[in-house]
Amino acid sequence: MWDSIRAQAERVGDRQILDLFDNDNRAEEFSLRAAGMLFDYSKTQLDEQSRAALIALAQNAGVEQRRAEMFSGGKINETEGRAVLHTALRNLDGGPVMVDGEDVMPGVLDTLKRMTALAEEIRASDVTDVVNIGIGGSDLGPKMAAIALSPYHDGPRCHFVSNVDGADISDVLRRCNPEKTLFIVASKTFTTIETMTNARTAKAWMEDKGVPIEGRFVALSSNAEKAAEWGIPAKKVIGFEDWVGGRYSVWGPIGLSLMIAIGPEAFTAFLRGAQQMDRHFQSAALHQNMPVLLALVGIWHNQGLGHATRTVLPYDNRLSRLPAYLQQLEMESNGKRVSMDGADLTVDSGPVVWGEPGTNGQHAFYQLIHQGTRVVPCEFLVAAEGHEPDLRHHHQLLIANCLAQSEALMRGRSLEEATEIMAAKGLVGPELDRQARHRVFPGNRPSTTLIYPQLTPEVLGKIVALYEHRVFVEGVVLGINSYDQWGVELGKELATTLGPMVSGEQAPDGKDGSTRQLITYVQRYSG
Ligand code: F6P
Repeated sequence: MWDSIRAQAERVGDRQILDLFDNDNRAEEFSLRAAGMLFDYSKTQLDEQSRAALIALAQNAGVEQRRAEMFSGGKINETEGRAVLHTALRNLDGGPVMVDGEDVMPGVLDTLKRMTALAEEIRASDVTDVVNIGIGGSDLGPKMAAIALSPYHDGPRCHFVSNVDGADISDVLRRCNPEKTLFIVASKTFTTIETMTNARTAKAWMEDKGVPIEGRFVALSSNAEKAAEWGIPAKKVIGFEDWVGGRYSVWGPIGLSLMIAIGPEAFTAFLRGAQQMDRHFQSAALHQNMPVLLALVGIWHNQGLGHATRTVLPYDNRLSRLPAYLQQLEMESNGKRVSMDGADLTVDSGPVVWGEPGTNGQHAFYQLIHQGTRVVPCEFLVAAEGHEPDLRHHHQLLIANCLAQSEALMRGRSLEEATEIMAAKGLVGPELDRQARHRVFPGNRPSTTLIYPQLTPEVLGKIVALYEHRVFVEGVVLGINSYDQWGVELGKELATTLGPMVSGEQAPDGKDGSTRQLITYVQRYSG
C-alpha cells in the first residue's frame, strides 16, 4: 500500500497547488465540515486520486476495525495489555463501555461526581490559589486548557508546576499565600521524580510557614496506595484507571485544576464538545471523517512527500500551549521505530511537531517557512470570533494575517514579480537581479486551516478530541502502538544513576569522558 502513496507522491511531483483552484469547486471538495468546524485542506497538492489512495491506505490498515475496538474497550495498547478509553471519560450520556466484561461507565460518572463535589467545595472555600503539580500529561492538558479558556475563569487562580528545576516551584510559591493555597499532586503513577520532588518541596514550604497541611493536598492518581503512603487521605484522592493514558487524561481527574478554574458546568461543556467529535469520528465514513482526513493529510506530507516536520499555528493567542500539548500527544504517541509486532517500521514514524501562536511566529520563524530550503507543512487554526467584542478590529486583523499566510505560502512571488517591484523602486542591471532574487518566494507550500466559531469550552473539547483521533488514525496506518512510551525510560534510568554522581556522593565511574567532564565542571562551580 505504501507503494501506491509513493507513486502518488511521484505523480504529483511539484505540481502547483494554485493551479488546482482552476476547478471552482476545489475549496469545497477538499474541505470538511463537522461539529460546527470547517477543516480546509484544499491548499495542499492532494487531488482526488491521491486522496483516494490515502483513504484506501487507511481502510487497508484496518482503521475502522481498530476504531471499533478502541471505543468498545479492546486492549489495543498491546505492549501494556491495556484498553484505551479516554473516550469513556466524556461518554456522558452514552451507553455502557465494557472492559474485561465489566461496564466502566458507572465508575466514570461517579468519579466525575466526586470531582465536581470537590471542585465546588474548593471554589466555595477561601482558597485563592490552586497549584497543580504534575508533568507531561499530568500538566500539559490542564495547563493548555486553562490558558485557552481564561475568559471562563471564575474560580481561584490556577498555577502549574512541572519542571524539576526549583525555579519553577519557587516562582509559583512566591505568588501564593500558604494559608489560602491548595496543592493538587497530579500523577498517574505517583512515582514520577519531578512531581514527587516538587510535591515534597510544597509540603516543606507549608510546614516552614507553620501552616497545617491537612486538607491542603489533593492527589489525582491511578496509584491510590502510593498516594496514601505519601500521606494524602483517601477522601482527597481521586483515582482513575490504567486505560486512561497520561497524555489523554485531561478529561478525567487530571482536569480537576481546570474544573476548579472554569467551574463544573463549563468543564462539562468541554467534555460534551469532545463527545461530539467522538460521535463524528465513530460514525462518519472515512472520506467524510475529520480526524481521518487530518491524519491522512499529515501522512501525505510526512511519509508521502517526506516533509519531516509540521508546524501548528494557532491564530488564537489563548492556544499558546496547544503546540506543546500536541508535541506530547503526537510525538510521544507516534514517535516509535517498530510496529506493533516488533518489526522495524518500513516508513518514517510520526513527524516532529512544533509551533507558536500567530501572529508572533510571523516575526520569528516564518522567514524559514516561506523562503527556507525545506518545506514545512503548516496547520493554521483560527476562530471566526474572539472574546473581546470591544476589540473586534484586532480579531479581524488576526484573521486577515492568518489567511494572508496560507495564501502567501501557496502563491509565493516569482522572480518576474520581484523584479518588477524592485525595478519600480529604480534598481537596474545586476543589482536589480541580485535584489530581486532575495525577494522571491517559491510558494507552492502546503497548509491546512481549521476554523471554528469561537474558542469556547465546547469547541476546545472538539479540537482536542479531533487531534487525539488524528493521532490514533496515524498510529493505525503506521502499524504502531500509539499508547505506550518506552522511549522515555532510558533517560529516567540514567538520571537516577547520575543523581549521586552530580551531588558528589559517588564517583562517575563507568561514565564516558564527556559526562565525566560535565560532572567535574558542575562540582567545581556549584555551591
Ligand atoms: O515520562 C513520560 C510520562 O510517563 C508521560 O507519558 C506522562 O504523561 C508523564 O510521564 C507523567 O507521568 P505521571 O502522570 O505518572 O506522573
